Amino acid sequence: MTRFARITGTGSYLPPHRLTNHDLAEQLAERGLETSNEWIVERTGIQARHFADAQTTSSDLALEASRKAIEAAGITPQDIDLIIVATSTPDMVFPSTACILQNKLGANGCAAFDVQAVCSGFVYALTVADSMIRSGAAQRALVVGAEVFSRILDFNDRTTCVLFGDGAGAVVLEASDEPGILASDLHADGKHVGILCVPGGVSGGQVTGSPLLTMDGQAVFKLAVGVLEKAAHAVLNKAGMTDADIDWLVPHQANIRIMQSTAKKLKLPMEKVIVTVDQHGNTSAASIPLALDHGVRNGQIQQGQTVLLEGVGGGFTWGAVLLKM
Ligand code: UT7
Repeated sequence: MTRFARITGTGSYLPPHRLTNHDLAEQLAERGLETSNEWIVERTGIQARHFADAQTTSSDLALEASRKAIEAAGITPQDIDLIIVATSTPDMVFPSTACILQNKLGANGCAAFDVQAVCSGFVYALTVADSMIRSGAAQRALVVGAEVFSRILDFNDRTTCVLFGDGAGAVVLEASDEPGILASDLHADGKHVGILCVPGGVSGGQVTGSPLLTMDGQAVFKLAVGVLEKAAHAVLNKAGMTDADIDWLVPHQANIRIMQSTAKKLKLPMEKVIVTVDQHGNTSAASIPLALDHGVRNGQIQQGQTVLLEGVGGGFTWGAVLLKM
């Protein structure tokens, strides 16, 4: 019998502090930077985002999202034998945020590690967990995307600081006789490292280089619209399916215009696209599981439906996962 990996529970969490574009514009004005609700909405679709307070880490957000996913799956933390956290804003340089989350959950003993593929992190992490479950290396995985991007934003750069937010999303992925994850397709092209990065590091007790996010937005935009369509068609081909088989597209939530362009190329009406970018902003690795949980909990995404997840971001990385709920 073929062994598959199926999502059996989803969960998400946003820190309580919500900033509208108007709030942010006011704060930036105090720094002498000009922006407006109109510009942000028109260029990105973002209306608001959530920011964690100074004490809250990625693992704290991950913990809340994970508890909800675990409850939805009807299991306990002790049933989990693999934890993968996708994050670019880890609590520490090391150990991994996955190990910190594991301890907070009380799931001590199982395998736990982080995946770093920036905004594609969740599709990377889900693909790794799927492979480990199908190979028999794991039975029940917790796969999380968690970010506190507010920590690495340059609030003197209006071209980036209005785009991102904090949050976490999680899924429980279990071995099953029924599909499950149908296909995945991952890519990276390291020659584009410079178009979206936090170039700093730590050395000799000092931060070396800039610890803040920098992005060539137009270059990222152009690459994103091309690769997302290719990844979507690659997973559909692998699964022997076509555009018409997609019930829901759950894309990385960076910019509504990128999502509209992808939907158009897949001949999908926007009614079949889960959109949370308006309320969450770009939460990097957390954006796809946040949107997935949103779609499941408000009754849009139903059991048995075919869902296409796709991510794109720093690296440059991109990828897609096609699955049956
Ligand atoms: O998560 C990983 C993936 N990331 C992405 O997918 C992001 C991809 N890129 C984008 O979403 C878009 O490129 C942005 C939203 C970042 C920018 O939109 P754009 O339509 O490419 O704008 P632009 O960079 O061409 O800037 C247009 C104008 C410029 O002014 P001039 O040179 O035309 O006078 C900017 O200086 O808008 C100006 N501008 C702003 N104005 C008000 C840039 N940022 C702002 C701002 N408020 N916050």
